[in-house]
Amino acid sequence: MSTTIYAHRGSSGLSPENTMPAFQQAEQLGAEGIETDVQLTKDKVPVLIHDETVDRTTNGMGYVKDLTYNELMQLDAGSWYAERFQGTKIVSLEEFLSWIKPKDFAINLELKNNIVDYPNLEAIVLEQLRTFQLEERTVISSFNSESIKRFRSLASDVELALLSSKRMEDPLRNLTECGANAFHANYRLLTKKLMQQCDHHNVPLRIYTVNRPSRMMRCYNLGCDGIFTDFPHLSMEKKELHHHQQLRKKASQ
Ligand code: G3P
Repeated sequence: MSTTIYAHRGSSGLSPENTMPAFQQAEQLGAEGIETDVQLTKDKVPVLIHDETVDRTTNGMGYVKDLTYNELMQLDAGSWYAERFQGTKIVSLEEFLSWIKPKDFAINLELKNNIVDYPNLEAIVLEQLRTFQLEERTVISSFNSESIKRFRSLASDVELALLSSKRMEDPLRNLTECGANAFHANYRLLTKKLMQQCDHHNVPLRIYTVNRPSRMMRCYNLGCDGIFTDFPHLSMEKKELHHHQQLRKKASQ
């Protein structure tokens, strides 16, 4: 099976992350999946934003958990990136799921609850996934293993990935303990041995954030199940190159 290319926070190398322009651009550039981050507003609306505060990616200030959805909607989430994106809004999970539903993308929703552990985030996200019937092509991920455990207790039919940037002695055991059935690992953790262990246990291994062509090629050569990249067009181009290299190799055998 070939490596699925996920646009990381949308096409975030070229557009303001986690906004509709970034998602639409990911589609234009041929990405196969979209990764995005979920946090919860004061009035419990799941919204797509990477940081716990709006400070870096909008013209506002404060924690997402302290702002209502209506307050968030007043903010500009595009100007910080480039003037031409002025007027871009923060996207709600509902808006995103409704946009992506008729499209072919694989979906990765990262629950951003390793710093602020939002009560009920798992149930709120699950309810929306069920409403849109998108469980089958969605993987839920989190750095918070307790959240993965909670999600697993609510749903046995959803793919759950533990995220890690830290080397673990026995990653497969950590996954089993929290009920995850996929591993989303920082590129620094990628080794042939890890790939073999994941393969052996039928655990999809997806790698973030892969922006350099040499790293993309290494992921393809090792057979990673997915990569998260800010530059989906470049990743697709390199994937095509890898495919041709494989065909030539086969033909010469
Ligand atoms: O979900 C993969 C990757 O996005 C995890 O790191 O910091 O970009 O959320 P971060």
